[in-house]
Amino acid sequence: MTEDAAAARSSPVLDTTVSHSARIWNYWLGGRDNYAVDREAGDRVAAMLPSIVAQARADRAFLGRAIRYLAGAEGIRQFLDVGTGLPTANNTHEVAQQVAAESRIVYVDNDPLVLVHARALLTSTAEGACDYVEGDLRNPDKILAEAARTLDFTKPAALMLLGILHHIPDTDEAFAIVRRLAATLAPGSYVAINHSTSAVHGEDMEEAVRHWNKVGTPSMTLRTPEQIADFFAGLELLPPGVVSCSRWRPDPSDGPGEPDEVDEFCGVARKP
Ligand SMILES: C[S@@+](CC[C@H](N)C(=O)[O-])C[C@H]1O[C@@H](n2cnc3c(N)ncnc32)[C@H](O)[C@@H]1O
Repeated sequence: MTEDAAAARSSPVLDTTVSHSARIWNYWLGGRDNYAVDREAGDRVAAMLPSIVAQARADRAFLGRAIRYLAGAEGIRQFLDVGTGLPTANNTHEVAQQVAAESRIVYVDNDPLVLVHARALLTSTAEGACDYVEGDLRNPDKILAEAARTLDFTKPAALMLLGILHHIPDTDEAFAIVRRLAATLAPGSYVAINHSTSAVHGEDMEEAVRHWNKVGTPSMTLRTPEQIADFFAGLELLPPGVVSCSRWRPDPSDGPGEPDEVDEFCGVARKP
C-alpha cells in the first residue's frame, strides 16, 4: 500500500488515484460514478472472484426487499441508512416512498463523492422527507444528533447498516457502534444488517479481500455468519435469521428453487 493509500484509509478525501469502496460498488452495480482506478480494482477483484458482481447485486436486491417489508408489513416510516453508497436505482427513499409517500429517510456516508452526488438522494416526495448527513459510523453520536433533525427517535425507525460494518476492522468497536445506535431507537424499531463473509467461497473470497486491502479504501474485515448474528444481540431476529442475502425472503418472481448463496450475509431484527 502506498503512503497515500494509507492516508486515505484514515481520512477520506476525494482522491481519484485510490480506489474506493463506494465507487467500486457503483461499478459492480453497473453505475457510472467511478474512476479508472476503481474499474481496474473492481476488475481485478472480479477476476479473482467472479461471483462478486452477483454479490453486489444480491445486496441491493436485499435492500429493496427489506425496505418493502418494513414499510409495508411493519408500517415503518423512518429510515436511517448509514453507508448509503453512491445513488443508484432503487435507493432507500425511492423504495420506502413507493410504499408510503410520507416516509422520512436520513442518509449517512463519509465518502466525499457520495456527498457530491447527494442531490440524487434528496428527491423526496412532498409528503415525506430526505436528508443527508456527512458522517462517520465510528462517531454514532454525531450521526444520531444530526439525524434527529429529520427523524423522531421516540417513534419506531429502521436502522440500515448495509455493506458498511465490514469496514470497521475492530469487531468490539463494530459491536459497540451497533449497540449505541440501537439503544437510541424506540421499541418496535428494526435493525437491518448485511456484511461480507467467506462462508460460501472460502479462500477465493479471502484472497479477493486481501487484494482489496492492498489497493482499496476503506479496508475490509470478513466475519463469520455467527459473528454477524452477534450484531443482533438483544434484538429479536426475524425469520429466516442470518442467511446469505440472496436467500432472505427471496422474491417468488425471481424463479423457482433456492437462489445461489453469495458471501454477503444479512438479517433483520426487531427491538422489543
Ligand atoms: C459497499 S458500499 C454499500 C452501499 C449500500 N449501503 C449498499 O448496500 O448497496 C459501503 C459504503 O459505506 C461507506 N462507508 C464505509 N465506511 C464508512 C464509515 N466509517 N462511515 C460512513 N460511511 C462509511 C462507503 O463510503 C460506501 O459508500
